[in-house]
Amino acid sequence: MPISAPEPLLQVKGLSAGYGKIAVLDGIDLTIGAGEIVALLGPNGAGKSTLLKAVSGLLPRSGSVTFAGKNISTASPRGIVEAGLVHVVEGHRVFTQLTVFDNVLLAGYGMKSDVLQRQAEEALAFFPEIAAKRADKAGSLSGGQQQMLAVAQGLVRKPRLLMLDEPSAGLSPVLVDRVLAAAAQLRDAGTAILLVEQLIDKALKLADRVYALARGSIVLEAKTSEPDLHSRLERAYFGTGQ
Ligand SMILES: Nc1ncnc2c1ncn2[C@@H]1O[C@H](COP(=O)(O)OP(=O)(O)O)[C@@H](O)[C@H]1O
Ligand SMILES: [Mg+2]
Repeated sequence: MPISAPEPLLQVKGLSAGYGKIAVLDGIDLTIGAGEIVALLGPNGAGKSTLLKAVSGLLPRSGSVTFAGKNISTASPRGIVEAGLVHVVEGHRVFTQLTVFDNVLLAGYGMKSDVLQRQAEEALAFFPEIAAKRADKAGSLSGGQQQMLAVAQGLVRKPRLLMLDEPSAGLSPVLVDRVLAAAAQLRDAGTAILLVEQLIDKALKLADRVYALARGSIVLEAKTSEPDLHSRLERAYFGTGQ
């Protein structure tokens, strides 16, 4: 049999999206391989969250999105989640009046009950510090722990690709490291991650590849092992070309 390069897990081609008449993204091409961590960087307002929303079907979009060999360009958000692509939205809020465990169960609505129970346990097991508080109200968790809970909610369906939109926003440096360490652990367990992050150095340390987005377009794509990445990123951010 001929040996061919594996298909990327996610392949986005010519994706455009916006809000009503406001065009934000213009012809985005992006790929993510199975088990890869890819950082998506860019200044505020560049369109990072819009890109994640367009990929996960939360916004109307044009262009093509293929995931795990399946065309999901016109799939519903629900269909996309069920295909194994889960998006933890920016500033995701947990249900503070529900217990930690019930929050995880809620994220798995529609799943078969025995599978849900098992996978909820597995999702929580990634975060011993909140697993120990499973019966407590989520509102009693610290901000960092609530962020971990949001990631655990994303894990309950065992996604093949998890898109995390600024999971470390508002956290202390120690908790940032804890949340990003969980991302590394997930990758080691075979989950691919698209990580939107403001903390550029930390994101580059963790990720295998990086895309920079500015004014709705991809302005740089690189392996994080490439030299000169910092200065190239800086130029990409400030719009003076690569
Ligand atoms: N709900 C919305 N309605 C209209 N414009 C929006 C909305 N959300 C974001 N935008 C605009 O889209 C652009 C990209 O925003 P966003 O994707 O949130 O950027 P980023 O996540 O990179 O900071 C910005 O100009 C922002 O003002
Ligand atoms: Mg954003």
